[in-house]
This record gives sequence, C-alpha cells and structure tokens, in this order.
Amino acid sequence: MSDEIIVRRHGQVMEIAFNRPDKKNALTVAMYEAVVAAMDQAREAPGLRVVVFSGTPECFTSGNDVGDFMNSPPVDENSPVIRFLQALVTFPKILVAAVNGPAVGVGTTMLLHCDLVYAGENARFQMPFVNLALVPEAGSSLLLPQLAGHRKAAELLLLGEAFDAGQAREIGLINEVCADDATRERALERAGRIATRAPEAVRLTKALLVEGRSQPLMERMALEGRHFGERLQSPEAREAFTAFFERREPDFSRFE
Ligand code: COA
Repeated sequence: MSDEIIVRRHGQVMEIAFNRPDKKNALTVAMYEAVVAAMDQAREAPGLRVVVFSGTPECFTSGNDVGDFMNSPPVDENSPVIRFLQALVTFPKILVAAVNGPAVGVGTTMLLHCDLVYAGENARFQMPFVNLALVPEAGSSLLLPQLAGHRKAAELLLLGEAFDAGQAREIGLINEVCADDATRERALERAGRIATRAPEAVRLTKALLVEGRSQPLMERMALEGRHFGERLQSPEAREAFTAFFERREPDFSRFE
C-alpha cells in the first residue's frame, strides 16, 4: 500500500487517509488504485462495518492531480478514478468522511456518496470543474440539485467558488461543523457507534436509503464521463491546466 494512502484499522472501522501533504493530497492514479484496493478489502472483510475517509489536519484533498489530468487522463471504465467512483456508488457498508481544510473537485463530490460527513471550521469545499473547462463528475450533476435544488447547484457548479462548512451544513452536504482538531475524532466516534448497531439492520437501512439510486447514478456518471473525457483533451482545458501550473487566471476569451 502506498504511503500516500494510509489505511488504519480501528476495531470494526477502517480509516482511509489521503496523505500527500506537499501537493495538498491531490489524488494520483496510484492513490486511486490504493483507495479502491482498500475499499475492496473493506467490502469483503467480515466484521468490518464502516469506512471513514480522512485527510491530513490541514487538507482533505485538492482533488484529482491536475498533472495527471494532462498526462494520464481517465480513458475508460477501468481507469482507477472511474473504479473509485463506482466503488462509492456500490459500497454496501457505511461511508463516513472527516473533512479538514480544502476539499476540492472529487474531494467535495465524493462526499455526496458518504452517509455521514463531519467537517472542521477550516473546511473549504469547491467544485471548480467549469473553471478548469471541465464538467461535473461523480454523479454530482444529478445528486447536487437533488440535495441543494437547481439554483444552488447551478451557483456552485457554474461559478465554482469555495464555500465554508456553515454553507455546506446549510445545503445538507455535511452533518456537523466541528472544531478543527476534533473533526477526525468525531467522525471515528460516530463510525464506532454505528459499528455497535445490529449489522444486518444497518446493512438493510443503507440499502433502503440508496434503493433505486444506483442505476440512474451509474447512467449519469457514464454521461458525465463521456463529456469529461472529451473536455480533458480540449484546447479550453489545456489553457486551464497550463494556467494552474503558471499560477495565473485562465484566459478563455479566444474560445467560442
Ligand atoms: N493537482 C496537482 N498539484 C496540486 C493540486 C492538484 N489538484 N492542488 C495543489 N497542488 C500542488 C500545487 O501545484 C503546489 O505545488 P508546488 O508546491 O510544487 O508549487 C502545492 O500543491 C501546494 O498548493 P498551493 O496551491 O500552493 O496551496 P494553497 O494552500 O495556496 O491552495 C488549494 C490549496 C487546494 C486551494 C489549491 O492548491 C487548489 O485550488 N488546487 C487545485 C485544485 C483543483 O483544481 N483540483 C482539481 C479539481 S477538478
């Protein structure tokens, strides 16, 4: 297991922690592979009841590694990022997240698939897909309007601006705003509490909560994925990625 993904076992709870602090925990192909392997293991492990995603105290994740977007774009259903998103949709056990600092791109959209989310006061959420000349992913074009309504979803996805834990709580993206240094402990405590509940009742409750959701979600993710794959190759996206690494605003004025 890569040390950029740390897997810890706390009794019946597995914690999967993003740990690439020098790059704000940006997720590489290898990191997605490691997360998918850990989730596969968690899915099968008897007695393992809850998975908690966390980052480092300063950052959850800055999302997909922008260099990978340029150099190793996800091309098909077998690419690790797609397998990660599918694992989120089909995961039968409880998913919890503890968010401190930036949660950008997939760092925010993956939360739409978690059952419980705890965020520190320092959490900053952002879905800057359009800013990067991309489109929403992880089924967020379906789940976000369901959660927040069309107007709010349009604002968050079209302007792509960061929002804080209070706003995330208001739209129902997170359960609770915690003190920064208490966030991970709170998520682990809640996860541990669920792990003491009757396991079959928990499994069935989760299955009922997501009943009917997975097929439309998979279809939407496939549609998003087709657009996303094309966008990654586009001149607009090339300008956006180059601007990111040159630390300047992208200039889309020459595009129609
Ligand atoms: N992919 C690749 N590298 C990334 C990255 C990403 N998603 N996010 C941050 N990094 C790198 C930066 O390039 C920088 O590297 P360097 O030290 O070699 O120059 C380092 O991580 C630190 O990032 P920096 O931007 O200096 O930190 P910050 O505290 O000022 O800002 C963020 C943190 C997360 C707000 C900011 O880095 C950011 O917006 N990242 C891009 C997020 C993004 O667009 N993700 C894709 C979404 S689809």
